[in-house]
Amino acid sequence: MTDDIDGTSEAATDAGRLWGGRFASGPDEAAWALGVSTGFDRHLWRQDLSGSAAHTHELHRIGVLDTDERDAMLDALGRCAELFASGAFPFLATDEDVHGAIERWLVEELGPLGGKLRAGRSRNDQIAGDLRLWCRDACDELVALIGELQQAFVEQADVHLGWHAPGYTHLQRGQPVLLSHHLLAYVWMLDRDAGRLRDARERLDESTLGSGALAGQTLGLDPEAYAAHLGMARTSPNSIDAVASRDFALELLAACAILAVTLSRLGEEIVLWATSEFGFVRVGDAFSTGSSIMPQKRNPDVAELVRGKTGRVIGDLVGLLTTMKALPLAYDRDLQEDKEPVFDAVATLRLVLPAITGTVASLRFDRDRLAAASVGGFALATDLAEELVGRGVPFREAHEIVGEVVRVAEERGVDLDGLEAEALAGIHPALDAAVATRLDPQQAIDRRDAVNGTATVSVRRQLELARAAAAANTG
Ligand code: ARG
Repeated sequence: MTDDIDGTSEAATDAGRLWGGRFASGPDEAAWALGVSTGFDRHLWRQDLSGSAAHTHELHRIGVLDTDERDAMLDALGRCAELFASGAFPFLATDEDVHGAIERWLVEELGPLGGKLRAGRSRNDQIAGDLRLWCRDACDELVALIGELQQAFVEQADVHLGWHAPGYTHLQRGQPVLLSHHLLAYVWMLDRDAGRLRDARERLDESTLGSGALAGQTLGLDPEAYAAHLGMARTSPNSIDAVASRDFALELLAACAILAVTLSRLGEEIVLWATSEFGFVRVGDAFSTGSSIMPQKRNPDVAELVRGKTGRVIGDLVGLLTTMKALPLAYDRDLQEDKEPVFDAVATLRLVLPAITGTVASLRFDRDRLAAASVGGFALATDLAEELVGRGVPFREAHEIVGEVVRVAEERGVDLDGLEAEALAGIHPALDAAVATRLDPQQAIDRRDAVNGTATVSVRRQLELARAAAAANTG
């Protein structure tokens, strides 16, 4: 039941099935229900019809179809596409999968001519090709959606250039940064996410048609002609690999899972920054929700859902990895399980990306709270230690000295700039009045003016690179 059997009996054709010639009875109801895939593989109609059009041309080239037959077939495939596009394609309960449904419909439309299309091909090479084509489009679409989100970050970073924010490690205040520097970090994370999708796309852009069930075919079909017809970059060099491999789907899912994790971290930061405790940001009304019982509530549900959806995208990847891990070559029916996780992950990200893009664009930052937090917690202690290094003190010693400064300040309930000159000089002679000038956050930020730094001049430069990166993805 799991093999493609060439030669279809009258009875099987009547039942609309692709196989059955060798069986005395039809399939058990439960077995059929388990195997039917039209509920999800119908999403591949466009790709399946493109493959069939390419196959029609090849069958004409080798003389299996004459010119009239070719034209009638192409015409029928076009009408079939219209039915799918309008949601009117008439699936039957006896259709096992989208490939069988289309062939059954062609036979109804064209009579025996419809039955000629299967020559030299198998659902094994069809499905491997269909899914690759689908994944290729999905990569393009996701990259463009990532570009929109990057754009939203670039705009926020541009508008807020110059605003201070706390930079964290261990979620404890570490050093002051420009808010724009923090926002632009997401642009680069997202850029690698887009890069992974581009890489996956490049590798999967390979035609599998002409592989037959697994060993190729005897009719003289040219595998490279399919690649040309379908606009694919290459032809798979090995028919067994072509029908058995799904690492392209795993790669797309891995890229989706990593992207989802990026978005989840972003969702978490929005949730955190929007709390009364942080109070750094307010999410726009259109991306916030109220509570059914607490009238005062303003909840960042979109950011939470983006974080929450990550679980299922990771699950999609882990699910297919698990399906694949022990499959012998070449095609196994287990491979039918490749589609739903791929569709689900991509559909999830299609929902998530525009919603989080709108959320980011809607953010209203609180300049005062951000600035106050950026200097709290002795955030300039590293600057003070580095100032001492500039004066010849070994960093190990400088670290100790500034540690003591922090201890004294903490005892007195002040920040570093609250200590008088005598108190500082009393801790170490290198701590003269001039070091006090180092305790200004703007200076601290602007001294970090290397290419990767948070200085205004560096971030301004970075902003232009980020703008170009976003534009390259939005296309
Ligand atoms: N629905 C099948 C799948 O998705 C198509 C290939 C069926 N091949 C077979 N030998 N039964 O994998």
